[in-house]
Amino acid sequence: MNIITRISEAHAHARARGQRRVLVPTMGALHRGHIELIRIARNAAGAGGEVAVSIFVNPLQFAPGSDLDKYPRPIDEDERICREGGVDLLFRPTREEMYRGDGSVYVDETELTRRMEGVSRPGHFLGVCTVVTKLFNILLPDAAVFGEKDFQQLAVIRRMVRDLNFSIEIIAGATVRESDGLACSSRNQYLNPEERAQAAVLSRALVAARESEKMRAHEIAKLAREIISSAPLARTDYVEVVDAETLQPIDVVRRNTVMALAVFFGKTRLIDNMRLR
Ligand code: PAF
Repeated sequence: MNIITRISEAHAHARARGQRRVLVPTMGALHRGHIELIRIARNAAGAGGEVAVSIFVNPLQFAPGSDLDKYPRPIDEDERICREGGVDLLFRPTREEMYRGDGSVYVDETELTRRMEGVSRPGHFLGVCTVVTKLFNILLPDAAVFGEKDFQQLAVIRRMVRDLNFSIEIIAGATVRESDGLACSSRNQYLNPEERAQAAVLSRALVAARESEKMRAHEIAKLAREIISSAPLARTDYVEVVDAETLQPIDVVRRNTVMALAVFFGKTRLIDNMRLR
């Protein structure tokens, strides 16, 4: 495995290679969900292809005063996971390497980000689109794998690739869950034992919603909110039923309908989603 920290080295490496490269962009603190994305990337790269993983905790997508500084950075463990997953290239730049102090160009999406995470975390998707564009330009992948757990992010990246004509295939990786249904996330480790036990309510709400697909969407959302509020430590940010591509709210469940939710447990904000049909 090559470990590269400089953009110039990454460019040289990208130009020198002949084989298909599949990128898994991450912020590190790798868990079973990432291992699955790496596995998907390995398959998509094929026998002679190359899997690249980037680990960069992107300051631009964190609001001031949020969890940027305490975001976990287990460098050795992440490196081990990458080696064991058969990763060929680990790109782990510093903040200074990625952002010059006087940078003044950003990438943003202006339609799909009007709801949900875009409302609760203003500026978040500008940070995501900008860093993903930079990673695409630095590592020049043929394909990139993103998790369905960040369902709105996936839709925004697909739209960005479409609208800015990146020649990069976007591959979705299914959400990996713990045995009680909680979606794997780097932020789960912030939960105390009581919050962690109660956080399983999110997937219970989503499964109940999926089983109620014949009801109107606003009734399904109400049911999910009620189930979530049965957990005393849960504080719902949003529960929405939307079309998976346009992210517009819908009232009759049809193909491609997704329920997405964000819920606080203490200071930790968890997101999850499920296709209703
Ligand atoms: O999903 C993430 O981990 C991040 O948002 C990403 C795509 C690596 C951009 O920083």
